[in-house]
Amino acid sequence: MHLDGRKDMDIVLIGAPGAGKGTQAEKLAPLLTSRHIASGDLFHEAFEEQTELGVKAQKYVALGELVPDEITIPLVIRHIEEPESTQGVVLEGFPRTLAQAQELDAELQRIHRQIDLAIYLKVSREQLLQRLAGRVFCQAQQHVYHVKFHPPHVADRCDHDGSKLYQRPDDSGEALRRRLVIFFDQTIQLLDYYRQRHKLREVDGNQSIDQVRLLLLSEINDYMGGKRRV
Ligand code: AP5
Ligand code: MG
Repeated sequence: MHLDGRKDMDIVLIGAPGAGKGTQAEKLAPLLTSRHIASGDLFHEAFEEQTELGVKAQKYVALGELVPDEITIPLVIRHIEEPESTQGVVLEGFPRTLAQAQELDAELQRIHRQIDLAIYLKVSREQLLQRLAGRVFCQAQQHVYHVKFHPPHVADRCDHDGSKLYQRPDDSGEALRRRLVIFFDQTIQLLDYYRQRHKLREVDGNQSIDQVRLLLLSEINDYMGGKRRV
């Protein structure tokens, strides 16, 4: 399936840890000619570079806790303001709190844009656990794989850049438990925020990676079709 018509859209992907936000955003952003911005990846990169922000954020990431809004919001907003984001963004993992959602709306309004769609990737708890247990990332650019559901062509090596694959330390134990609790207690409340603004769509994220991609594209095409009819 292809996308028809206007493409410069700002989209938020909401989903529990392991729902497939990153997997889908990686494919969706180029189709929309949008920029994929993932707050978790930004923290990871900042930590790898040992910046002050990265070191501070890592203390929260390692525990599976939310990084405080005063660190998270300016970091993501700065990326949205960059020239690479002018054709639209696919936001993965941001916003996660009401304050983040409100600040995002205020920032987009300031630059004469707005969130087009917030899409919830709904996935069962059993699937989430299976996905996180087998997930691996490439060291160079954070490309994501799954040992069973989405294996690389060569074991342990990234298809794109050949770098070695690793497991995230917060994908198990107490940190994972905290991430799931925080999502289902707090972040899920954002669904109401976007529902009230008529931005929310829900997609069955339990399907295969390709099927979920088609469902996402169908929601986006439906939204674009609706805009053309107005
Ligand atoms: P972050 O990196 O965003 O983690 P997360 O939200 O817990 O989400 P994940 O990245 O774990 O899951 P995903 O939905 O992207 O799944 P994926 O596509 O990889 O955040 C990490 C930490 O940073 C947070 O805990 C927090 O500390 C901090 N943070 C980040 N943003 C923040 C914010 N806004 N505010 C405060 N703190 C913040 O897929 C999972 C696996 O399943 C992969 O192996 C994949 O290959 C496989 N898979 C995907 N789709 C399918 C499918 N359809 N079928 C089968 N397998 C599939
Ligand atoms: Mg992710």
